[in-house]
Amino acid sequence: MDRPRAYDVVASIAFLGRRREVFTRLATLSGVRPGHQVLDVGCGTGYLTRILAPVAGPTGQVTGVDASPAMVEHARRRAPANCRYLVGVGQTLDLPDMSFDIVVSSLAVHHMPAGERGAAVREMFRVLRPGGRLLIAEFRPPTGRLANRLAGLLTGPAMRHDLRGLLGTAVPEAGFRVEDEGELKPMLFYVRAVRPAA
Ligand SMILES: C[S@@+](CC[C@H](N)C(=O)[O-])C[C@H]1O[C@@H](n2cnc3c(N)ncnc32)[C@H](O)[C@@H]1O
Repeated sequence: MDRPRAYDVVASIAFLGRRREVFTRLATLSGVRPGHQVLDVGCGTGYLTRILAPVAGPTGQVTGVDASPAMVEHARRRAPANCRYLVGVGQTLDLPDMSFDIVVSSLAVHHMPAGERGAAVREMFRVLRPGGRLLIAEFRPPTGRLANRLAGLLTGPAMRHDLRGLLGTAVPEAGFRVEDEGELKPMLFYVRAVRPAA
């Protein structure tokens, strides 16, 4: 994925004009507070990082990691003072252990090779401090067969597959305590979890 401008246009349309509302809700659900160190895995154009940045404030910092150099370059050009962006993959984060208070990831895990998604969740666990919080948001595929086929035709196979089962297993297996799961209209579900304190 290396066309950041096109991605933002498609995302605005796909969220039916509610992208800002949905991602502001994700920012609230993440539990970010002033002073927090925050990591966004698969940050894309940096849309969510720019919503999180004012919440983390000048004493906090938001780090975005994305596999696409074009996405990272686009995000860097729009970066608030307390944001930084790194090219990298979620399965092997080049970041220190226990260095973040919050890890978020939206619509990125389904892009990772199926056999490596568990490794990405384990990396999220590794870089979170004990007591740190995780929020993963992914597609909630349409339930109707026709709508599901249509979503697959328009967006590729990613949106036809439901990651709820995988995340429901991978998140606790990585060591997290799952706090809750929920849905965000029009098309997301999320999992929230905590790295237990020691
Ligand atoms: C659908 S976009 C989502 C971007 C952003 N999180 C959002 O919600 O708008 C998926 C992003 O994941 C990135 N990506 C794909 N595989 C990745 C990986 N293994 N590690 C990190 N990022 C990855 C892509 O480059 C792309 O920017």
